[in-house]
Amino acid sequence: MPAMCASSNILEPSEANIQYCADLLRSDHLVAVPTETVYGLAGNSFSEAAVRKIFQTKGRPLIDPLISHFAEAEAAFECVESNTEAKLLAQSLWPGPLTMVLPKKPIVPDLVTAGLPSAAIRVPAHPVFRKLLAQLDFPLAAPSANPFGYVSPTRASHVAVTLGDRVTAILDAGPCSHGIESTIIDLRVPSSPRILRPGPIPAGVIAAILKIPEVSLLEATPTSGPQLAPGMLSKHYSPKASIRILPHGESAHAALSVPDNLRTAIIFNQRPAQLPDTSADLFWLSESDDLEAVARNFFHLLQKCDQAGYDQLIVEAAPDQELGLAINDRLRRAAAKASL
Ligand code: TXA
Ligand code: MG
Repeated sequence: MPAMCASSNILEPSEANIQYCADLLRSDHLVAVPTETVYGLAGNSFSEAAVRKIFQTKGRPLIDPLISHFAEAEAAFECVESNTEAKLLAQSLWPGPLTMVLPKKPIVPDLVTAGLPSAAIRVPAHPVFRKLLAQLDFPLAAPSANPFGYVSPTRASHVAVTLGDRVTAILDAGPCSHGIESTIIDLRVPSSPRILRPGPIPAGVIAAILKIPEVSLLEATPTSGPQLAPGMLSKHYSPKASIRILPHGESAHAALSVPDNLRTAIIFNQRPAQLPDTSADLFWLSESDDLEAVARNFFHLLQKCDQAGYDQLIVEAAPDQELGLAINDRLRRAAAKASL
């Protein structure tokens, strides 16, 4: 029997527990796994039964394709038609928080790619996830381990609260180091790569490796109508509380006035030099001006505020550059209202 915390399926990442999780995955169970970005809900990419369970467990529509995770780049490239640009990026950035979209080979089931002729592949850097992948002779399909549309999980406890009774095991390796999902790059047309989802790896880093002037970023697609990048809905990552966005650096007191009837939290990027005079509760994502900490703590603080029962969150945007672009992408979607 694996060593478990009292009456829960949260497992410490010991060798024995990793082996136990590998066995679960071999028999089509799902395991929540730590990655360097967010926790993933993992199942055998090559098993339709396991992949179907992933969609069911998350309540995710079958039109939203999954990322397959591999221990090594060689195995990943066996599942897609790769190209020189993809290989260059893999050499520099894998293992790491980069997902590549390339034409798929028949070995990848259509269910994983939502029927698309392309597949998303990633070699993750997290040592526990890597140990697990190394024990398996199949890749792991893993979306973020949250109910569809809700805030992404960056700690095992987030998974336990929202999906705990629906996954067989949760491997707990502490908080995720990046805290937001991987950068997704579409490399199907290698001469004009484009970012489908901004993430921890900025566009400039990719452009420098590929020796091209810039890499374009696809804007969010609407909640209805044709999807350029499936799964990239303008409403996503949303807590129960409503969100108002405060422009970066703004601490004008007028903007911080809050209605008495709404329990409100204000979330700043960094500890304000002077605490504003407001009836709202105040939080900050980093002690000083540290964007990596802002990203790492972003989803965690949204989850915490939701559990604390706030009605409204006023969240300061990050600066619109590099990692800040990825944080603001999540913030805008989290703040979006569902369109009918
Ligand atoms: O950091 C991450 O990428 C995390 C961890 C667990 O690895 N995973 C993650 O997966 O964020 P998920 O399912 O939450 O987001 C996957 C997104 C899809 O919603 C879709 O936008 C994009 O990846 N995607 C997957 N396959 C694609 C394809 N063939 N073409 C275009 N976009 C694709
Ligand atoms: Mg997700």
